[in-house]
Amino acid sequence: MTEKKKITVAELRSQRWFGASGQPGNHKSYRTKQMGYTSEDFQGKPVIGIVNTWSDLNSCHTHFPQRVEEVKRGIWQAGGFPVELPALSVGETYVRPSTLIYRNLLAMDTEEILRSHPIDGAVLMGGCDKTTPALLMGAASMNIPAIFVPAGAMLSGHFRGQRNLGTGSSTWAALADFRAGKIDEKTWRGFGEGTARSPGTCNTMGTASTMTSLADVLGVSLPGASSIPAVDSTHSQMASMAGRRIVEMVWEDLRPRDVVSRNSFLNAVVTDMALSGSTNSLIHLIAMARRLGLELTLDDFSAAAEAVPVICNLQPSGKFLMEDFYYAGGLRALLSVIKDHLDLSCMTITGSTLGDELEGFAPYNDDVIRPVSNPIYAAGGLVVLKGNLAPRGAVLKRAAASQKFLQHTGPAVVFKNFKDMLARIDDPDLEVTEDSVLVLQDAGPTGAPGMPEWGMLPIPKKLLEKGVRDMVRISDARMSGTSYGTCILHVCPESRVGGPLGLVQDGDMISLDTDARSLDLLVSEEEFARRQAEWVPPPPHYERGYGALFSQHVLQADEGCDLDFLAKSGETSDPEARFS
Ligand code: FES
Repeated sequence: MTEKKKITVAELRSQRWFGASGQPGNHKSYRTKQMGYTSEDFQGKPVIGIVNTWSDLNSCHTHFPQRVEEVKRGIWQAGGFPVELPALSVGETYVRPSTLIYRNLLAMDTEEILRSHPIDGAVLMGGCDKTTPALLMGAASMNIPAIFVPAGAMLSGHFRGQRNLGTGSSTWAALADFRAGKIDEKTWRGFGEGTARSPGTCNTMGTASTMTSLADVLGVSLPGASSIPAVDSTHSQMASMAGRRIVEMVWEDLRPRDVVSRNSFLNAVVTDMALSGSTNSLIHLIAMARRLGLELTLDDFSAAAEAVPVICNLQPSGKFLMEDFYYAGGLRALLSVIKDHLDLSCMTITGSTLGDELEGFAPYNDDVIRPVSNPIYAAGGLVVLKGNLAPRGAVLKRAAASQKFLQHTGPAVVFKNFKDMLARIDDPDLEVTEDSVLVLQDAGPTGAPGMPEWGMLPIPKKLLEKGVRDMVRISDARMSGTSYGTCILHVCPESRVGGPLGLVQDGDMISLDTDARSLDLLVSEEEFARRQAEWVPPPPHYERGYGALFSQHVLQADEGCDLDFLAKSGETSDPEARFS
């Protein structure tokens, strides 16, 4: 098979099932033949589990049924036995109340379907926002050879002669214009339809493209795979190449913990800053690192943000889309520009280093992928803020914020929860000006629950009509990677567990200073202490089921929002299949 072959057929994990003596092994054999396979199809071959997050309610993965066949083709070609394992699809558009809750369930699903079945290696098929970190968290904990196949982004949006319409970014702007009465309903709806033209993930540098790009940098997908548009024929070719490669990886016994190191994560953080990636990535990367027992903190993001300019000119921070990024050379071209900030000795699943995989790559378009001498944002595209309002940190995507608000002090307009915000935000009597600070409470990990992407609070209608398009907004929620504005997110600890955000009252002055990296509530220490003493924990959202499990065990945003009993490295024992 390969000169790097390290293990024998007898050492394949699947042999504990198929190679067992007596009735247990015989039972697996004749039940597999029941499906129409012959011994030649599976005996003595690595069994490759294709973990597929397709469903009829994940519009970003509609091409996966075809891609699975292409992955299988590669596996057969390389001498493996492919089996498809459907997993939770976590379609961002449809899952409520928050896909972050189900990120952890998909991570558990991934780990356990791999553990409980006779699987030697895994092909992980995902891309829509939470599916990427979830699949990788599960695979990291399971630690068998694994390769990630990203869904790829959808085509660029077009509507009435307007090109480069981005998923989310363009539709948020159209929604604001519709609410302000500048466009009619048909036009507003047309913008949405114009941005969703093909299979694939959101076409901006939102959470999906950020996370697939970072998985690429971590070395767990075929190099450059993340930049290929979903419907490009190269995407099909990549899928079958991944199928071939995973079989080799099984024989090489190349596992996630052999590939990914702390420096791989630091490379991902640096790349995240150059991409001006989604703020969701902070939560996901920290959660993924902890699954491998690797340390990664908000301070690592802060340091990288100061050192690395934003050079990726993609929406929402810039103007182009993922399709343009691919034609400009894609992720490897971008990495070639910032390679002085990367540890090029980090490994990839090809068995080669990141540096080897970048040889010969450079941008074809220096407006889409800028040189460091002409960045979109010089440095500090993302800032981690701390202060008495966010003792454990909060996040602001400065590259997508308004310059005039980067130093700002204003009175709070407080919404107790999302429902309260919806009920009052457009009230003509709401006391609010452009200088107010909109505060949303109870939207954190246990609050909402699951930190929904509510952090880009809508601008009150009466201000929209006056032309206001941005304000300082603060919450313990997340924000869609396609969103923009001066939105301070992930305030930690969250208000529902007694964090200071829950103590803010209407009219309190709040001070934001991005140069000083500070976020403070300007009330006296005595008043602050009085409010803390009077704070009463709200009742739980869930009494039973997965919601209760999540709420009781979820960690805070600065720890990655994983479940506490999963957020650690180490082996979980395999089932003993020989006796059953
Ligand atoms: Fe699936 Fe954006 S909704 S990637």
